[in-house]
Amino acid sequence: MSVVGIDLGFLNCYVAVARSGGIETIANEYSDRCTPACISLGSRTRAIGNAAKSQIVTNVRNTIHGFKKLHGRSFDDPIVQTERVRLPYELQKMPNGSAGVKVRYLEEERPFAIEQVTGMLLAKLKETSENALKKPVADCVISIPSFFTDAERRSVMAAAQVAGLNCLRLMNETTAVALAYGIYKQDLPSLDEKPRNVVFIDMGHSAYQVSVCAFNKGKLKVLATTFDPYLGGRNFDEALVDYFCDEFKTKYKINVKENSRALLRLYQECEKLKKLMSANASDLPLNIECFMNDLDVSSKMNRAQFEQLCASLLARVEPPLKAVMDQANLQREDINSIEIVGGATRIPAVKEQVTRFFLKDISTTLNADEAVARGCALQCAILSPAFKVREFSITDLVPYSVTLRWKTSFEEGTGECEVFSKNHPAPFSKVITFHKKEPFELEAFYTNLHEVPYPDPRIGNFTIQNVFPQSDGDSSKVKVKVRINIHGIFSVASASVVEKQNLEGDHNEAPMETEASSKTENKDDASLSSDKQDRINQTIKKGKVKSIDLPIQSSLYRQLTQDLLNSYIENEGKMIMQDKLEKERNDAKNAVEEYVYDFRDKLGSVYEKFITPEDMNKLSTVLEDTENWLYEEGEDQPKQVYVDKLQELKKYGQPIQMKYVEHEERPKALNDLGKKIQLVLKVIEAHRNKDERYEHLDHAEMEKVEQYISESMNWLNSKMNAQNKLSLTQDPVVKVSEIVARSKELDNFCNPIVYKPKPKVEVPEDKAKANGEHNGPMDGQSGTETNPDPAKGSSQHTESGEMDVD
Ligand SMILES: *[C@@H]1O[C@H](CO)[C@@H](O)[C@H](O)[C@H]1NC(C)=O
Ligand SMILES: *[C@@H]1O[C@H](CO)[C@@H](O)[C@H](O)[C@H]1NC(C)=O
Ligand SMILES: *[C@@H]1O[C@H](CO)[C@@H](O)[C@H](O)[C@H]1NC(C)=O
Ligand SMILES: *[C@@H]1O[C@H](CO)[C@@H](O)[C@H](O)[C@H]1NC(C)=O
Ligand SMILES: *[C@@H]1O[C@H](CO)[C@@H](O)[C@H](O)[C@H]1NC(C)=O
Repeated sequence: MSVVGIDLGFLNCYVAVARSGGIETIANEYSDRCTPACISLGSRTRAIGNAAKSQIVTNVRNTIHGFKKLHGRSFDDPIVQTERVRLPYELQKMPNGSAGVKVRYLEEERPFAIEQVTGMLLAKLKETSENALKKPVADCVISIPSFFTDAERRSVMAAAQVAGLNCLRLMNETTAVALAYGIYKQDLPSLDEKPRNVVFIDMGHSAYQVSVCAFNKGKLKVLATTFDPYLGGRNFDEALVDYFCDEFKTKYKINVKENSRALLRLYQECEKLKKLMSANASDLPLNIECFMNDLDVSSKMNRAQFEQLCASLLARVEPPLKAVMDQANLQREDINSIEIVGGATRIPAVKEQVTRFFLKDISTTLNADEAVARGCALQCAILSPAFKVREFSITDLVPYSVTLRWKTSFEEGTGECEVFSKNHPAPFSKVITFHKKEPFELEAFYTNLHEVPYPDPRIGNFTIQNVFPQSDGDSSKVKVKVRINIHGIFSVASASVVEKQNLEGDHNEAPMETEASSKTENKDDASLSSDKQDRINQTIKKGKVKSIDLPIQSSLYRQLTQDLLNSYIENEGKMIMQDKLEKERNDAKNAVEEYVYDFRDKLGSVYEKFITPEDMNKLSTVLEDTENWLYEEGEDQPKQVYVDKLQELKKYGQPIQMKYVEHEERPKALNDLGKKIQLVLKVIEAHRNKDERYEHLDHAEMEKVEQYISESMNWLNSKMNAQNKLSLTQDPVVKVSEIVARSKELDNFCNPIVYKPKPKVEVPEDKAKANGEHNGPMDGQSGTETNPDPAKGSSQHTESGEMDVD
């Protein structure tokens, strides 16, 4: 299984993977570790990430960015409407009332659900990690803001499915950062010591989150989390943009806000200016050429001005810090360190606010951009059975309290019970017992809507089915397990009825409600107990009672139907295929273009000698025609047309290329063959002169060799002569491949005869014995005399038994 962590940011995404060396943030195809959360739809293809970002200004209405806050919300949601005003592309109300986008893709207006949009981005990140890991990727951990509600979380989960990812955990961004911080710390206090309390501050492009965590060896517990979901780097950009829009209105009489291209460019410049001001307090210029109506604009700003401009934003830094300390019930002196991450924490004034509040220096030991992705990858490694990681237990928090409501069996009244309170540890399960005679519905909702940055308190409705009276007419005892799962999503996980077998009284039953606490409301109707060990489905008390699972029908607020999700998955597959085909088509077109340029270039240089002036003219025309064709009729053709075009060009090009390559390689091939002939000739001569190194060679065979070599020489000479008579523009008489084949054949024919090893020297009996007695240092000696080595003897011919004395 793969170990991948994805930081799904508002502006940028990061991917970290586990490899043998540890956790590593990986780069995309642009060698960039940061992938913009941006998708550009075109008439034939999609661009995602860096390629899409460059189209924000050129393909304004079809380039989607800044969409993270649309997850799990209806089109009419006030947040969606606020975002809508800021976005240069159109939003659309989907059939289910949820927010989607409307863009032109493949030459038609197309609506995309937010799950599809994020699905495209995640599919891109999946591909990036697959390229890095060189294997398919499915399992991963994805980050989300800690303030995301169930509907938003479920929407991100659906997007992961659209991308073909199996999200093992949705992880709160601040918790991911805390894990990335804690897991490598060697000096954490042991379990019986006072924990180390660390505050994590994450201000990204669109949101601000604070959490305080307690660390012990191998353990991290989130104590409290607070946030301002609407404060981030982009608010500071906006403040600059507003300022310059006003200034330009009076200075240049232009209304920038009416021109979305100009506005986008101003945003980009202001983002750059903001970053520069973080490093430089002096006056800095802002210049944009050809900004609007052919006008160049310029202005300037310094850090002090900027801070004044953003005073109201800066004032929002402190309240979440104060709230987190209150909720965790900690004083400043209880905090051991303060860690900051996220791009916007680079703004000096933001850091000052934090320092001023804690009266303590901030530490920046974590990588401000990559800590979230790394924490997610670590969590994925912990969840993976295939990966060995240090044990590390994580206890997170329930961000908002959750209440269940149901109709009571007696009057027309309703019962209510807060099943999870704010800052309750998570993940966690609890069991509630009901006494019912018929199926009943549980309505889950957020208790205090004012705590939740979301306009609707509903979570979901769960109907417990197949509930009947007991055989004696009494109510059945129904145990319902509710859970905040590993993704931070609430659900009614299971329900069962406890059936009395022997008509026993209620009092002698399960030890389950031992923890049933003061929280219990409506004692006669429902009671609540903690259940950490999933004991719900066990047969209790020696067969006197048994429990039977009950079906649950859930209807979750703003949940995609499975059919819709399936159609999104199918569509993403189609779009990936379309992109692939389009890429192949483009590659085929580029291949034609490249061939034209390369060929023309070589005609003017290395090929020149190999082509007659008439052919040169003809070819130049062909190349020019092809080039023109590429810009006109051939601009937009199916892949096969380009493939055929390339074939056609190659028909002209290959003969010339062949002559050139042959000419370049021929001398070496001829030379090699000549050398081989010379070597064999030497042996023939030495053999003829009764050289004792060759006296073992067979005479008849050596005659055959002589014959063969003389034929080879004739062949070589005749080919060389014929070739020398030709001009360079003519086809060669002999191909390099033929010469090489000839060389090989010569080796095969002559080598076994000419380089036959000399037979072993017969060592006389007594001498051998003497050798044996000497035993040792003399051993290798007998071989030294037998080594013919005709032509500096390549190693395969020297195996004449040097060590074979025994
Ligand atoms: C700050 O910017 C100004 C204006 O561009 C420049 O002259 C100065 O050298 C910069 N200072 C630093 C410390 O970079
Ligand atoms: C963080 O995520 C967990 C699930 O891992 C979830 O239960 C919890 O609600 C989240 N915590 C906060 C503070 O948002
Ligand atoms: C509940 O218990 C029964 C009987 O032991 C078993 O067959 C069934 O699979 C269990 N169900 C679950 C959800 O554990
Ligand atoms: C749950 O039921 C209540 C009462 O019938 C209804 O008002 C509410 O919209 C339902 N919620 C969901 C998420 O279906
Ligand atoms: C979405 O629409 C389908 C039918 O098209 C419906 O069954 C489902 O309940 C709707 N979901 C929401 C959240 O409105």
